[in-house]
Amino acid sequence: MKTKLVINNKKLKTSILIKKNYISKFIEVISKKNERVFCILDSKIKIDLEFSKQKNIKIFTIQSGENIKTFNGYKNLSDKLIKNNANRKSVVIAIGGGTLGDLVGFVASTLLRGLEFYLIPTTLLSQVDSSIGGKNGINTIYGKNLIGTFYQPKKVLIDISVLNTLSKKEIKSGYAEIIKHALIKDYSFFCWLEENTNKLLNLDKSILEKAIYKSIMIKLFYVKNDEKESLINSKSRAMLNFGHTIGHAIESHYKYKKFNHGEAISIGMIAEAKISNYLGLLSSNELRRIISHFKKYRLKVNDNILKNKIIIKKIIKDKKNFQNTINFSLIDKIGSSIFYKKLDKSKVYNILQNI
Ligand SMILES: NC(=O)c1ccc[n+]([C@@H]2O[C@H](COP(=O)([O-])OP(=O)(O)OC[C@H]3O[C@@H](n4cnc5c(N)ncnc54)[C@H](O)[C@@H]3O)[C@@H](O)[C@H]2O)c1
Ligand SMILES: [Zn+2]
Repeated sequence: MKTKLVINNKKLKTSILIKKNYISKFIEVISKKNERVFCILDSKIKIDLEFSKQKNIKIFTIQSGENIKTFNGYKNLSDKLIKNNANRKSVVIAIGGGTLGDLVGFVASTLLRGLEFYLIPTTLLSQVDSSIGGKNGINTIYGKNLIGTFYQPKKVLIDISVLNTLSKKEIKSGYAEIIKHALIKDYSFFCWLEENTNKLLNLDKSILEKAIYKSIMIKLFYVKNDEKESLINSKSRAMLNFGHTIGHAIESHYKYKKFNHGEAISIGMIAEAKISNYLGLLSSNELRRIISHFKKYRLKVNDNILKNKIIIKKIIKDKKNFQNTINFSLIDKIGSSIFYKKLDKSKVYNILQNI
């Protein structure tokens, strides 16, 4: 793997740069080209802030987590930017995990009808998933990501050197999205992960870079085909939602406290793989192989709430659903996914009782 890799996407008007130890330089280059630069930085990140000495750079630090993806979080950041004279020539750089990126992207897309913005994802999860594709937004009491926009960052910088300070729990959370990408699209990637997950979780550089690159390419495949998630076939961006219909419901039910995003979607992926098996789509052998991989690396596989009626009420609020039916992104093989339309909510309840 090269130390510098650029993925330019003309259709999406965005580019992704994978380069180590490059954050300060990246920000310096942006600041030379722009009048005013606002850096929104996650408070847990330890990086050299030498660049902040430049007069046109202002840094706001945020203690991030799911609690910032709220109306309040949106108001606080927008007010701060306006108070500090953000104008249409200002650019915004988000340096943090998926929660910070989702909030900053949403603010940037709406403030003054849209400011140029850049993303520097600092968690494994945000490097392999949330920084790619231009979705951003906030949660409401009714569910996850219910308010948001599609708005592509001008550039994304993936720098794996920031991952060293990440906890094992957060590394595993990111791994959940990597394995999701393999499960929906790439059997050989899944086999490669079966061999290399241990090294990946221990942040072996070349394994990590390969997994990140593969994940990004799978995500880009769907985003390029269906940026606004309007297709309802196996090329739909909704395929990336495998594990999320149930995962988001779990997160929302526990008010984002019991599980982090990766843990919730791990439970969601196993439940949705079991639904795939129950519906005759996925073989029992393949289901067992998936569950054993999750168990081997201690990814979450179950939670009691799945048997409770209350979870159906949460599931029904998912953006893919209409009236009382639930649309799932399911898998019919390891490495292949399908859009499964219109499961009645009582049927989903019954299936969840039986898996
Ligand atoms: N927009 C999308 O397409 C998309 C896709 C997937 C997930 N998401 C969203 O992403 C969010 C989850 O993102 P996340 O897992 O990055 O969570 P997060 O942003 O909450 O980060 C997890 C924790 O790691 C800390 N952190 C960040 N970088 C660090 C570093 N380098 N070292 C040490 N600690 C660090 C954060 O402060 C936080 O405590 C969810 O809200 C999810 O809905 C969005
Ligand atoms: Zn996710």
